[in-house]
Parts: sequence; C-alpha cells; structure tokens
Amino acid sequence: MKQGVSWLKDEVNRLREQHLLATLPVLDTPAGNRVVINGKPCIMLGSNNYLGLANHPRLVAAASKAMDQWGFGTGAVRQLAGTMRIHMELEEELAAFKGTEASLVFTAGIAANRGTIQALMGEGDVIISDELNHGSIIDGVRLTKAERKIFPHLDMPGLEKALQESRAARRRLVVTDGVFSMDGDIASLDQICELAERYDAMVMVDDAHGDGVLGKEGRGIVDHHQVHGKVDIEMGTLSKAFGCLGGYIAGKQELKDYLVSTARSFIFTTAHPPAVVAACRESLRIVQEEPQHLRQLWDNTNFLKKALQDLGFDTGRSQTPITPVIVGESAVAQQLSKELFNHGVFAKPIVFPLVAKDKARIRTIVNACHTRQDLEEAVEIFGKIGKQMKII
Ligand SMILES: Cc1ncc(COP(=O)(O)O)c(C=O)c1O
Repeated sequence: MKQGVSWLKDEVNRLREQHLLATLPVLDTPAGNRVVINGKPCIMLGSNNYLGLANHPRLVAAASKAMDQWGFGTGAVRQLAGTMRIHMELEEELAAFKGTEASLVFTAGIAANRGTIQALMGEGDVIISDELNHGSIIDGVRLTKAERKIFPHLDMPGLEKALQESRAARRRLVVTDGVFSMDGDIASLDQICELAERYDAMVMVDDAHGDGVLGKEGRGIVDHHQVHGKVDIEMGTLSKAFGCLGGYIAGKQELKDYLVSTARSFIFTTAHPPAVVAACRESLRIVQEEPQHLRQLWDNTNFLKKALQDLGFDTGRSQTPITPVIVGESAVAQQLSKELFNHGVFAKPIVFPLVAKDKARIRTIVNACHTRQDLEEAVEIFGKIGKQMKII
C-alpha cells in the first residue's frame, strides 16, 4: 500500500519530543496592544507592528476606497497584466522616502531577499554574509551558485578578512541585516560601507526592522548611519512598521530594471491586490505626517528596556524595540513564556536552533500603541514570574 505522507507522523512526533514543533497562536481580535489569543486576553509583546499602524483608520479607509475603485484582485503577475497605476505610484513614493532613484515592490520581504540575491549573484561571485543574518537572506544565498563566506556577527576584522580572501571573485556582495531580529542590535553599516568601498564590493542591507523605526522619520538604517548613496541594495518590508504586507528593493533605476526581468520571486507571482497597495501608500504618508508614533515607540522602548534591566533581567545587546530577555536553557525560556501567557503577557520563546543552545530567550517587542499602563503591568508580571522561577 502507498505510504503517502504518513511518515510525517513520526517526524512531527520527533519535532514535538525535541521541543521544536511550532504551534500557531491564534488571534481572536485585530492586532494591537492588547489582544485575545487562543481565547485569552493578553498584552501583546510579540508583534512587529512597531508604529501601531496595522489598524490605523487611515489605512483601513484607504484600502476600502481602493477596493471600490480598483476591485479586489489583480489577476496576473506584474510582468503580464498585474501592474496597475497604483503599484507604480507606490514604488515612486517608496523610492522618495528611502532617498533612492527607484524601488521595486515584491509580495513579501522574504521574496525580495530571495529574488534579489538569486538574480544578482552567480558562479564566480562571492557573497559575504553576517552569521546572524535572517533566514530569507540565507535562502537567497542558497539559490545561487556563488561562493559564500560567513563572517562572525558584527565582526569587522572578520569581514575584512573575507574581502581580502575573495579578491579573485568576479563580483562580491556584502549582505547584512540592519537590525538583527533575535538580539535587536544594529549592524555597523558605516564601517561595512567603508570596507566595501575599499575592496570594491557591493553592499546590501535588510532594513526589515529599521524601516519606520530608525533614522529621521523612520527612514531606516541608511539614514541612521548617514551612509546615503553608499548602499547599493536596500531591502525593506512593508509588513512590519508599515503595518501592511510586502517587501521592496530600493536603489538605482538599473537595479529595478534588472530585477523586473530576472528576480524569479518577482516574476512568478501575482501582483498585490489594490487594497494592500493603497494601504502601503497611506502608511508611508502617515509615517511622514504623524511623527508622534515614532516618538512613542522610542519612549516605550526605553521604558521597557530599563524596567526589565532594573529587575535584573539580561537584555543582551539590544539597541532597538526588540528586547530579548535571555534566560539560558530552552526549557526555561519555554516555561517562562508559558507562565507569562498564563498571567496575560504574550512574548514568544526563541530557542535553539534559532539562537545558541545556552542563549534561549523570550523576545519582547514594544510597539507605539502600548500604553504606559500596558507596559507597567507587563513589567510587574515579568518581575513576579522571574522571581518565582529564580531567573532574577
Ligand atoms: C530581518 C528580516 N528580513 C526579512 C523578513 C521578511 O519580511 P516579510 O515578513 O515581509 O516577508 C523578516 C520578517 O520576518 C525579517 O525579520
């Protein structure tokens, strides 16, 4: 008899035994500071809705107006019949926001990273990548025949060594996250650009957690480090601080032109529905017109980070709204997350293999929509459980 996929039962059991089986927390309410998850009300400390825009009334209104004007679906990939006027307008506005000549929107950030690295790099090339780069960068690297060199996290001498060792390559690409999603630390993009210039390498930065968060008006890591014009390929996402969906690449016009013809994750997928595009455009406007969200995000970030540190928690090297609470063993992180949830705080555990075996953690992410009361309550719960579990 045909076995089909029945072998997966054993695999799922194996994952469960190793505490690696992911389960999906289900929200019964819209995204926000307080949500109901699996039927339980809690303070949300696990969302990338940095500026709290996911439910901004202007976004909802823009999406709904676009549906009236353009309908719901697009019915085709961008290269065929799926590109509407509003897709082009979004790309122009995004480029203006990022201070680049052009931008190209993909259906998601993961598609932007995969498609861009795949399209730009090939046999005879070398990709030099920070060891803690996001999985979508790693996927993109795996899609090419380029040689890969991994440098230790944030280690500039390590990067320089890789650049020296790869002088014979046809082309070289240094690729890094801007903000690292597990630790909340920031790449030394100024130093990376300097080294890349010296060794004639291209630079690509993933600004998924910097967009809307770092730099003037949330323009991202390039603005934060004042390295305008020095980064060849800026990747970002519309799915996090912008509260919508989509990824993009920003840079020179020829970069856009080339990717339109060669990035497989752009070519072989249907264009975004108009409602999504209109919401992205509105979100970009809100980010520039309502600076209070960014101010609130950083106020909240500084408050929560300090309060957790004052309690005695190890918050690692975070410099951003992503603040890890490092506890060591995977089992401790899982137990802490469970207890927090039972007491009304949602913050996911991050364990091996996502982080080193002895660096398991809870990852907290603060958003602009959290009130001081939300954060004070969350801190009190963290303190109580941290003491009960003898973590602090
Ligand atoms: C650093 C980083 N890059 C890329 C992505 C992918 O972005 P998206 O969710 O838009 O696919 C993420 C999201 O998880 C991320 O954290």
